[in-house]
Amino acid sequence: MSKNICFIDGLEGVLKYREVDIKELVELPYDAVSYLLIRGELPGEQELAEYSARLHAERGINREVLDIIRMCNFNIDAMEALRTVICFISQFDPDLNDSSPEGNMRKAIRLIAIVPTIVATYYRMANGKEPLPPDPSLSHGANFLHMIKGSKPDPLDAEVMEKDFILSAEHELNASTFSSRVTASTMSDLYSAVVSGLCTLKGPLHGGARAEVMTMLNEVASPENAEKFVLGKIAQKEKIMGFGHRVYKTYDPRGAIFKQLAKKLAESRGDMHWYATAEAIENVVIRELVEKRGKPIYPNVDFYSGVIYKYMEIPPQLATSIFAIGRISGWIAHCFDQYDRKKIIRPRAFMLDEC
Ligand code: CMC
Repeated sequence: MSKNICFIDGLEGVLKYREVDIKELVELPYDAVSYLLIRGELPGEQELAEYSARLHAERGINREVLDIIRMCNFNIDAMEALRTVICFISQFDPDLNDSSPEGNMRKAIRLIAIVPTIVATYYRMANGKEPLPPDPSLSHGANFLHMIKGSKPDPLDAEVMEKDFILSAEHELNASTFSSRVTASTMSDLYSAVVSGLCTLKGPLHGGARAEVMTMLNEVASPENAEKFVLGKIAQKEKIMGFGHRVYKTYDPRGAIFKQLAKKLAESRGDMHWYATAEAIENVVIRELVEKRGKPIYPNVDFYSGVIYKYMEIPPQLATSIFAIGRISGWIAHCFDQYDRKKIIRPRAFMLDEC
């Protein structure tokens, strides 16, 4: 049942995947959280070893896929390349139209494993660098950083990236997961459902907000400018990116963890600049919108993750696709649940007024 995949208490700021609290989940490897979402329970040691081995073995891409990535436009967001490449490779998956649970699981593992490689390969090519093969000995987060940076990542950076993927992995019926479920509800294949999710995630009101946060941080540039910037946005009735949520009416628990991680990174680098700038923005938003106007507008999952990418020197062009790398396990968990229901999702138009 989908309510089991995720539980959110938007008033108390509680988030659980499969009844495990997000605070516990971030201490696990991403592979274990992915297993939990897709299979419904946490893996034992042996099960995790086998699942990780299968995922790590499927990370590679072949020459044809490299050629397709080479043909992509390198001046746009990595999400565009990711969507294109997933569509392309679907045609060659021998399990494409095998809708048995085993066929779907094989596709799921290939998809979860290959998405980081596509993003990293696109990024390196876009920057005139040779793409690097994945390293099966590294975790999901460390391997991704290794593939984009070209060197073994600093342990704290690798830990933060792993936690980012976990914090992004699942969030009930958010817009992209809903899209994936609608596609799966027609009994279309898993690649199609994942592409639906990708197309929906990229919008700036959803996963695209992370890149917008990074642009905003550049614009604000230092803590002293935060007050003027936020007051200007409020006066113009413009949204401040990385704030507010349809479900949370309190601090987003993922936002709180991202904030701690951003602080840890800032301290480890001995450079509080971006953290202090973000915190100054947050303080003015809370004072003006929460305290003075009584609106529950707190940092969401996208705010401090944008700060983390500033410290890791990850460009805005990759921010949404990093969200997708994490979220794909959640999409797939929901698609599996939807396949079991064998029932098409077909809302009526009047329901749009309630959205
Ligand atoms: N900055 C300033 N005011 C805001 C913001 C914000 N970020 N978010 C909501 N408000 C105000 C809004 O102006 C409105 O005020 P009023 O009632 O006076 O007209 C009120 O709060 C309700 O806003 P809403 O747009 O009706 O709220 P919603 O539940 O439809 O939208 C949201 C939720 C996330 C789309 C919205 O808060 C937003 O656009 N935030 C900025 C974009 C963002 O950070 N998106 C990431 C969302 S979290 C991760 C994800 O889902 O991907």
